[in-house]
Amino acid sequence: MTDLCEQCIRLDDPETGLTGIIAIHSTALGPAAGGCRLWRYDDAAAVQRDAERLARGMSYKNALAGLPFGGGKAVIALPAGPFDRDALFRAFGRAVAELDGRYVTAEDVGTSVADMEVVASATRHVAGRTARPGHAGGDPSPWTALGVFRAMEVAARTALGAELGDLTIAIQGVGSVGASLCAMLADAGASLVLADVDESRRDRLAKINRAAVVDLGEIALLDVDVLAPCALGGVLDATVAEGMRARLVCGAANNQLASPDIAERLLRRSITYVPDYVANAGGIINVAAEYLGESGLDVEARVARIGPRVGAILTEAARQQASPAAVADARARDLIARAQSRAA
Ligand code: NAI
Repeated sequence: MTDLCEQCIRLDDPETGLTGIIAIHSTALGPAAGGCRLWRYDDAAAVQRDAERLARGMSYKNALAGLPFGGGKAVIALPAGPFDRDALFRAFGRAVAELDGRYVTAEDVGTSVADMEVVASATRHVAGRTARPGHAGGDPSPWTALGVFRAMEVAARTALGAELGDLTIAIQGVGSVGASLCAMLADAGASLVLADVDESRRDRLAKINRAAVVDLGEIALLDVDVLAPCALGGVLDATVAEGMRARLVCGAANNQLASPDIAERLLRRSITYVPDYVANAGGIINVAAEYLGESGLDVEARVARIGPRVGAILTEAARQQASPAAVADARARDLIARAQSRAA
């Protein structure tokens, strides 16, 4: 099992302004599944780096979630000027179609159910579309939030010996996932502190959930019990890892560790880090079920396994005196390697 991608496909369609990368990290367990991100990047190298990193994360996430999928990701650079969004996503759909099922796309940061409907006009290898009655589908964010909630519940019991209702939880980013998570945590009786670059959204959600608000720079270092990163990746850098006061990190954002060594730093400070891709698998579970034609009940059953999986990883990490990230990575690599050797 290597960390290199099996294949990287360059997206370049001058007519629509589509530029980016589809990164296929592994197809050992099945078609490479992972969302399509539309974001601002400084240059093509940054697009490539992000796509490869995210695709690898999807391989690990899908493997540990027990899905019959490998890992991939599409990253589209947000065009600098005005652009025809439908034309851009149609062109992206054509690129996905050319891969003939090796890559299955869905929404991610910057893309929506409506965008995936446009992609679907060019390829059937897309999920995250409008839900049909009796079938899985639609916005995956509520499922992601439910998985994070279940992960946090088990992690709080295992690591802090506490129920969520007794804890103060800082949520960084109250977008689609963060907002749903807020509601679940408020229902569970937790005290919440929120931060978001979109202050009006933050204030609205704070009012609904009786939460406190803080500035962006403060949230990761607050004196709280749990930090839930639900914005973009890289929030756990050396400064945060050494200065943070929360004893538990569990959130939805992908790639929360700015670099792999941060997991060890957190371990040294006795801070429990729930590996992001284990906690946030609810969305891809919903996407996979939609693609496979399964029902909402199948999704519920798979999301329900996230909590026990987190419990098993934390217990094993404690036994080995290793970081939960190292234990999760080893388990995912092992699942992928075993599929590779079965195929060989
Ligand atoms: P979103 O775009 O709806 O929400 C992100 C929120 O974070 C926005 O409200 C934005 O204003 C805020 N934000 C951006 N930069 C920030 C900063 N520096 N500090 C505080 N807030 C900031 O995205 P969504 O769908 O809620 O996803 C959140 C994270 O979870 C992303 O990292 C995404 O990759 C990850 N994720 C999402 C899944 C899903 O089902 N939507 C599935 C798995 C992972």
